[in-house]
Amino acid sequence: MARPLSPVHGPYHRGMRLLLLGAPGSGKGTQATRLAAHFDVAHLSTGELLRDEVARATPLGEKVVSFMLSGELVPDELVEEVIHDRLLAAARAGGYVLDGFPRTVHQAEEAYKIAREAGATVHAVILLDAPDEVLTERLLSRAQGRSDDEPDTIRRRLEVYHAITTPLIDYYRDDRGVLVTVDASQSPDSVYAAILDELPQLVPPVGLEPTPGGF
Ligand code: AP5
Ligand code: MG
Repeated sequence: MARPLSPVHGPYHRGMRLLLLGAPGSGKGTQATRLAAHFDVAHLSTGELLRDEVARATPLGEKVVSFMLSGELVPDELVEEVIHDRLLAAARAGGYVLDGFPRTVHQAEEAYKIAREAGATVHAVILLDAPDEVLTERLLSRAQGRSDDEPDTIRRRLEVYHAITTPLIDYYRDDRGVLVTVDASQSPDSVYAAILDELPQLVPPVGLEPTPGGF
């Protein structure tokens, strides 16, 4: 059953297209789960999809496992293999929350092509911003634990984020004009409320959308 929406966000129902950008531990998964439920759209996490391939010991899973365990990015072509059809289907259905994808400029360009093919490029990119020390503490104390949450791997994941993924901040802010930054060191509820507060500034109500831009 569809969840009730606040009047402010009601007009976006089933059409919201968001991308969550942020370092490991910034709360991408936590916030994406809530946003996807709120807007009743698909939640696409490349991390979750890749971990599922590893758990099922698929040929793709065998190719990606060593990258994930060492905190390196999985090569773009393998990530695109797992996300392409799902993103296309979600874009055709009208909405999605992307969590942890894209993470390289090449992936961002691919995502744009896929979403544009469906006429459904991203409305807003939310940068979840928090200091590395806060993120490290969260990952070390993650309740359910994850095999890439070892101290050395966390350090490497953060380095990779700063070196390879942060250029996307300029890309979405300056080239596309769709970026908002939220202080992700607040409580999960406060981060969620801050995201919902920011959205009306970037997302036009249904029926008033410009021709595809985004990504
Ligand atoms: P991925 O699964 O995406 O992991 P990540 O980016 O390292 O981030 P996490 O999932 O650990 O953190 P999160 O930001 O989702 O935060 P969460 O909500 O879980 O990627 C894993 C690996 O897969 C990569 O290293 C790479 O190898 C590969 N990969 C994935 N996508 C790829 C791509 N596109 N290209 C190439 N390779 C790719 O929260 C973390 C913890 O903090 C939880 O315990 C949570 O309860 C807690 N928490 C959350 N929010 C708060 C808050 N506000 N206050 C206090 N605690 C909080
Ligand atoms: Mg995650």
